[in-house]
Amino acid sequence: MDAASGAAVAPAVGSEQARTDRRDFLRMVTGAGAAIGAGAIAWPFIDYMNPSEDVIAAGAAIDVDLSKVEPGQQITILWRGRPILVVNRTKAALETLQEPGLVGRLADPASTVHQQPPYAQNWHRSIKPEFAVLVGICTHLGCLPKYLPTPDPTTPEANWPGGYFCPCHGSKYDLAGRVYKSVPAPYNLPVPPYRFSGDQKLRIGENPPGATFDLASVVQM
Ligand code: FES
Repeated sequence: MDAASGAAVAPAVGSEQARTDRRDFLRMVTGAGAAIGAGAIAWPFIDYMNPSEDVIAAGAAIDVDLSKVEPGQQITILWRGRPILVVNRTKAALETLQEPGLVGRLADPASTVHQQPPYAQNWHRSIKPEFAVLVGICTHLGCLPKYLPTPDPTTPEANWPGGYFCPCHGSKYDLAGRVYKSVPAPYNLPVPPYRFSGDQKLRIGENPPGATFDLASVVQM
């Protein structure tokens, strides 16, 4: 807290305070499974997976029925205590991801930093271009970025192309979770291990055959 203004002051990245805040936040998310399941975003849990608490606690793979996710819609699923964002990206959104005007504003547009499995190191950061699968935790201090797919009064800039905005300290990501330049967050949003178990069936927590990616290996969660 700033003594003069009374405003909250963000701890420096890497400081002991920042590490403590991050741990506290992750503990809160991990412990929030039951609360989230009964709260405002309960429907994804009920409609798409409905796992037992034992399954969630064990970190088992979770199946998601993508046939119910409309174009442009995002659902949030808790896996191993982390919010996993699944988005059905529209054709227009996919075209935007490749526009030089956006790509030039990104810190790591080619995903060179190890924040995703090899099968998601491409321009759309996913297996199928239309479906994004991301860990929804800001790589700055661990807040939950807001999904802002289209311009509206709350978008952070006039020519907002759609993406994620972290209101805590102003970090911005595109709809592939690629972080903008000159924002506090240093890295793209992580991509968890996942595979398709059917044309419209997603399994979060398992790699495709032959892949061995472990989410714990990423540079920054
Ligand atoms: S936590 Fe600081 S910008 Fe996201």
